[in-house]
Amino acid sequence: MVDLGSLTGVVERSFDGLEDSRRRQLLKDLVRTIHDFVVRNNISHAEWRQSIEFLHRVGDISNASRSEFSLLSDVLGISSLVDLIGAPPGATPSSVLGPFHSADSPWRDNPVDLVKQNTGEVVILEGVVKTLSGSPIADATIDFWQNADNGLYWQVDPSQPADNLRCKLKVGKDGHFLIRTIRPKPYCIPTDGPVWKELVEPARRSAWRPGHFHVIVSAPGYQTIVTEIFGHDDPYLATDAVFGVREGLLGRYEAVDGEAPRMRFDFELARGAEES
Ligand code: BEZ
Ligand code: FE
Repeated sequence: MVDLGSLTGVVERSFDGLEDSRRRQLLKDLVRTIHDFVVRNNISHAEWRQSIEFLHRVGDISNASRSEFSLLSDVLGISSLVDLIGAPPGATPSSVLGPFHSADSPWRDNPVDLVKQNTGEVVILEGVVKTLSGSPIADATIDFWQNADNGLYWQVDPSQPADNLRCKLKVGKDGHFLIRTIRPKPYCIPTDGPVWKELVEPARRSAWRPGHFHVIVSAPGYQTIVTEIFGHDDPYLATDAVFGVREGLLGRYEAVDGEAPRMRFDFELARGAEES
């Protein structure tokens, strides 16, 4: 038997049998937190049913190549919160992975030219991968991807060749990398699903993300960084739909006489296990 005073404790204790102590702690706290939310807001049957139906719609539009649940986490700022609380002090900040990364990016030699048939403003992204004390990390790997001049990633644009504007490369012995590419464009989060239509748009929020390079930087013995680099003067920095912009992720395109503008961006990795 339960009543309003005992229910939360009874449900919490029902998870005492979980062997994994971390899972046990998380589930019990989740129960406590959601029960508290329901009580504080006097949630009605109709409201709870609507919430469950919303989650059904989020699931219905999701598939192996599209996760509306990830988008939900992004627009609620939870993805960024997880990034921020896990950030090793002094290292390059992390930022949202987004839906357009896959592990099978083609290897290219450093320096790399990704421009090929792409239109758009040619730019150079270069820098050094280093330790927190500034020593170059010679065996670091960079996994890089970005959108094309029409704002789209190759996976969702049949007019682009497979693997357009993405690659993996090894930095040089001096930790240096150089990528000749195009300036990434601002673009919108998906607006055809329930997250946009029922949550973000009704709040009159922006769908735009500032233009960005996506980068995963890893090296044996160092904590992997999943992050993004933004142009310092992008008009959408303050209103990024997924809260991914951090002060330490702004780069500056410097004009170079007769050559493509250059952005210099160094990555600082903290020691630790490689998996992020
Ligand atoms: C992206 O960076 O590509 C992205 C991130 C979150 C939601 C949608 C797109
Ligand atoms: Fe992106």
